[in-house]
Amino acid sequence: MKTLLIANWKMHYGPIKAGGWIRAFRRERLPKDVDIAVAVPHVSLAAARSSLGRASIPALCAQDVFWADDGAFTGEISASMLTEFGVQYCLVGHSERRIHLGETDDMVAKKAAALQKAGIIPVICVGETEQQQKRGEALKVLRQQTAAAISQLAANSKTPFAFAYEPVWAIGTGKACPAQKAKEAHELIRGVMAKKIGETAAQQVRILYGGSVDVHNIVDYMTTTGVNGALVGGASLDPRVFGLLCRTAIPS
Ligand code: PGA
Repeated sequence: MKTLLIANWKMHYGPIKAGGWIRAFRRERLPKDVDIAVAVPHVSLAAARSSLGRASIPALCAQDVFWADDGAFTGEISASMLTEFGVQYCLVGHSERRIHLGETDDMVAKKAAALQKAGIIPVICVGETEQQQKRGEALKVLRQQTAAAISQLAANSKTPFAFAYEPVWAIGTGKACPAQKAKEAHELIRGVMAKKIGETAAQQVRILYGGSVDVHNIVDYMTTTGVNGALVGGASLDPRVFGLLCRTAIPS
């Protein structure tokens, strides 16, 4: 399975800066055997698309979606709207949304299902908070978030889905999760999936690691069994650093 690296800009880079990032990143030497995507804010999708021109690398990833197709949902954006920008991936359930916007497991499940229906690959983010970890609830939380997120996905869909294991305590803190610990979390996530979709199908699902990934630790993750890529926040803001990360990552 091909390694997937996603740059997550979070709430950075409006249309002007987004275009600049894409153009600078396109000048980087990029490996062919790694899938590369960039998660841009909704308002910057059009600029990112037009800076890409006909190029498909990096693929576009949205940072969120609403579950309904259209209707009276002021401020929201549907999966079919995202397809108009050629969006191939979309994050769902990022912990920052769960924490600041009150996203629940049920909302995450509905969003993932809506994306799959529209042919966009949902990248479902799961992960325990520091408190949950301290209370010894990490595995329980992961099990619950994973099972809920896939509960509304269609078994026979041609559109795959992916997970990103992002322990909240590792995001933006510089305290990256030890690769061995990430491996255990990935195994648990895959195990929960296997119960629902079968062992073979679960083996095909990419699980990325996210949380303080940088040029010093990316090789550790990419050489860890069951880690199929990375979701990179802070270290992706500089296109040259993200280019370096892409070159450093090796196929899982
Ligand atoms: P970070 O963010 O790499 O800055 O820790 C990762 C993420 O939240 O996607």
